[in-house]
Amino acid sequence: MGSNRQHLRDSSNRQLIERRTRQEEKSDTTKPSNISSFYKLTVDERLDKLKDFSGLSNDEVELVKSGNLPLSSAQRMIENVVGVLPIPLGIAVNFLINGKDYLIPMAIEEPSVVAAASHAAKLARLTGGFQASSTDPFMIGQVQIVRSKSPKDAEKLILASKKEILDRANEQDPVLVSKGGGAKDLQVRVLPTITGTMVIAELLVDCRDAMGANVVNTMAESVAPMLEKLSGGRANLRIISNLADKRVARSSVRFSKEALGGEEVVDGIVDAYAFAAADPYRCATHNKGVMNGVTAVCLATGNDTRAIEAGAHAYAARTGHYAPLTRWSKERNGDLEGSIEMPVAVGIIGGITAVHPTAKICLKILGVKTARELGEVIASVGLAQNLAALRALASEGIQHGHMSLHARNIAAMAGAEGETIDQVAAAMVSEKKVRLDRAKELVAQMPVSKNRTAAHQEANQPKKHP
Ligand code: MEV
Repeated sequence: MGSNRQHLRDSSNRQLIERRTRQEEKSDTTKPSNISSFYKLTVDERLDKLKDFSGLSNDEVELVKSGNLPLSSAQRMIENVVGVLPIPLGIAVNFLINGKDYLIPMAIEEPSVVAAASHAAKLARLTGGFQASSTDPFMIGQVQIVRSKSPKDAEKLILASKKEILDRANEQDPVLVSKGGGAKDLQVRVLPTITGTMVIAELLVDCRDAMGANVVNTMAESVAPMLEKLSGGRANLRIISNLADKRVARSSVRFSKEALGGEEVVDGIVDAYAFAAADPYRCATHNKGVMNGVTAVCLATGNDTRAIEAGAHAYAARTGHYAPLTRWSKERNGDLEGSIEMPVAVGIIGGITAVHPTAKICLKILGVKTARELGEVIASVGLAQNLAALRALASEGIQHGHMSLHARNIAAMAGAEGETIDQVAAAMVSEKKVRLDRAKELVAQMPVSKNRTAAHQEANQPKKHP
């Protein structure tokens, strides 16, 4: 018990020292990410800022702009390729995480998300930004053993051969092992199920800077024959678990009540959180708001968004009660305090991150040095996104911001061009009638020449902030 406590103390001291060292490394190099009126700039002006912030080459800037994914690369990613599907890539500004400035690339089709994250980060900056931390990057590889005559004996025999099993697993990836990663531990569970009692052997693999699905699956497959021999059963599934509860990132933040619009707004946000904590119908939407940010950064950096989503929601339900990934409370002085904890099984090497040209550039824009750092950034973006949604919901409502951009899309669909798009959109928003039929009526009322002559200006028109 005493040595356990000592171990915990040592490990938390180690984490603290690591965090400090990382903060020191981070703070000396970056430029400020609070680029004034970024949203008002043209695309080319934004790219200039990005180039300056992240040291992108001209070729990289061109690649970001075009979003080009060569068919030859696409063909190496999936089967039966017929094309590519581009979606918008935006940059959330203002993020300050552990004292380091980040510009955050977000790939997402939903209006308002990038603006909302930027706005929340702007308010967070006033009170020191986000404080983030993370565990070591451990993933779990499961081997399911069925039809063992004595699952209890199998458990003992497997655990008695732990070293040999870990050695076999580690033979699969000497490079990972040389970098300090690899299979570090093995745990066994005897699991009653509807088809009989099973033995579940779980490898704990430190994946370092890789997401790890490939290496973990390879390791699980490699040890399966040994496990069959030891258990007298049959190895069925051999696969990673996406409930990555040993690879968790945390972030916390404080917002002053003044920045949020007063104590009433703070109370509204805390009540919104309480609603989510008590009700799964609201909680699913609360966590969807978190994942708007999380998934957008994962997609931009070439990470497996489905794995992250699955892990996040399973983690949210780990107690048997589906709960919010974030927490919000009011401080004594009326300020708002928030935190997030979630699994972030992301990598910065291997997989798509290595072959997708834009994903590689997005990682460069972020300037993250490790997968853990990327996880901490992602958790902070999720927290910011949730704050922005709750603040809007608890004050003016979400539709105002959402509708401004949505209205532009509807106006364009109705045939508006150039500055007419903004005029039709503004009219619909002020009438609170953002509908295609109304947009068509408004377009019909516009002088034809105005609609046409303005069309060529559209490409460089600064967008309205939602
Ligand atoms: C919409 O994409 C996300 C929100 O519904 C999140 C929430 O309700 O908290 C606004």
